[in-house]
Amino acid sequence: MLIAVAITGITCNAALPLVPYPQQVKETGGTLVVPPVLTVGGEVSASTMDCIARELHGMKWQVITSVKSSGAFIRLKQNQKVQGKEAYRLVIHKKGVQIEASTDQGLFYGFQTVRQLLEADRKSLPCVEINDSPAFSWRAFMLDEARHFKGKEVVKRMLDEMTRLKMNTFHWHLTDDQGWRIEIRKYPLLTEIGSKRDSTQTGGNSRTNTYRIEPHSGYYTQQEIAEVIEYARQRHITIVPEIEMPGHASAAIAAYPWLGTAETRAHVQAKFGVFENVYNVADPRVRSFFEDVLTEVIDLFPGEVIHIGGDEVRYTQWLASSQVTAFMKEQQMNTPADLQIWFTNKMSSFIESKGRRMMGWNEITGDKVHDHVEHQAPQSTQLAKSTIVHFWRGDPELVRKAVEKGYSVVNSYHSFTYMDYTYQNLPLEKSYSFQPVTEGIPAEYASQILGLGTQLWCEWIPTENDLYRQAFPRLAAYAECGWTRQEHKSWERFNQIITHSLMPALRVRCSEKGIIIN
Ligand code: ACM
Repeated sequence: MLIAVAITGITCNAALPLVPYPQQVKETGGTLVVPPVLTVGGEVSASTMDCIARELHGMKWQVITSVKSSGAFIRLKQNQKVQGKEAYRLVIHKKGVQIEASTDQGLFYGFQTVRQLLEADRKSLPCVEINDSPAFSWRAFMLDEARHFKGKEVVKRMLDEMTRLKMNTFHWHLTDDQGWRIEIRKYPLLTEIGSKRDSTQTGGNSRTNTYRIEPHSGYYTQQEIAEVIEYARQRHITIVPEIEMPGHASAAIAAYPWLGTAETRAHVQAKFGVFENVYNVADPRVRSFFEDVLTEVIDLFPGEVIHIGGDEVRYTQWLASSQVTAFMKEQQMNTPADLQIWFTNKMSSFIESKGRRMMGWNEITGDKVHDHVEHQAPQSTQLAKSTIVHFWRGDPELVRKAVEKGYSVVNSYHSFTYMDYTYQNLPLEKSYSFQPVTEGIPAEYASQILGLGTQLWCEWIPTENDLYRQAFPRLAAYAECGWTRQEHKSWERFNQIITHSLMPALRVRCSEKGIIIN
């Protein structure tokens, strides 16, 4: 069960089949025989214990749980000396398994480590002492369901895989030009009209003008969303919903034309790319619309952070609108970038008035991130300092600029973290090499980089099989980038574990569900 690879520069000689690899591993010699019935006992919440029992059941174990840890095979103990919300200490000795942490989440992560060891060998566990905690607090996976709706069972399967990998944030991209996928009770046409398109562009990144002439639709009722939120909560995963504004707006404008800036009618787009449709943020009705939408979103999602998109906004329609240009003049704004920041700050204040925090793609800073769009720097407006800037595009130096200005950053630099890229363009080793703290960031600002996100944009990912092909084994690489400190990372070890342990186990789980992955 130990993978016999000689690895230099890490704390053990032979790597345990674990991803993300723990910070400190000490093998103490010998093995622990695993009994046919597993007893799990200790001081965790009922929902965490339930989840642990279900995961062991899923591995075909008979499980007995108890609130007492004494005598149990897996003992979970609250210990305030284990510092850090997500940290745990795991000791496997000849008589049993002991997990200690100061939180439920830490105990749950300690269990995930044991679970990976059990998945690699049902019969015996190596005797070890592991002290572990994540390098970064933000370890996110983003799924774009606006372009191709997958549904809650697929989302739950992804949450299951995130759980195994100790990823703690699911970023849910729910609205875009090609579909609006979340029920908003005050505005039913968003889903009645905005969740449906009549055809879909095909052809992948070659972007041919060929279409599958077949309706595509789907959305989540609030009840279904609540079910997914609860499923994630039990697994200590927070969901960050993304409602795109002021661009990527076609589906909503198709539903309610008064949201738009141009006179021409918008359609739920069948084509992929960036469109000119933009919300008319100069109209107070449109700003009220967003407050209504965000109110329902905030009532539904309990997590702290609400993502407002903000990327790839085309300003053509704003500049052509007499209403928008008059409003800009009245507000003494010289550039459309100022208007975007002004609107973003309005949304930020609203989100903060509800006790939450706003996040958006890095265009919201007003920095130049696209070569192909004429850029005009904002002149009079500055993005609210409480914003989390989600860096995806532009010179990596922009990360430094953002942290120096005081912003928190999540790093999702596209050329390293976009899962929809081909393996030729983004090989696994490049994914694995990603470092959320960009080179050259002064040490005093490093803690403002909360971590990383990996994104699965689904323009060209219509099926669950496509999704798995793009996401695995990459998700494991990003999990390790987010959890394992740089000095403990090893591509050779990771690659061995992926090949011999993690991917074979994933293939078995997938084939049980009829999913084929390479
Ligand atoms: C993005 O890829 N437009 C965030």
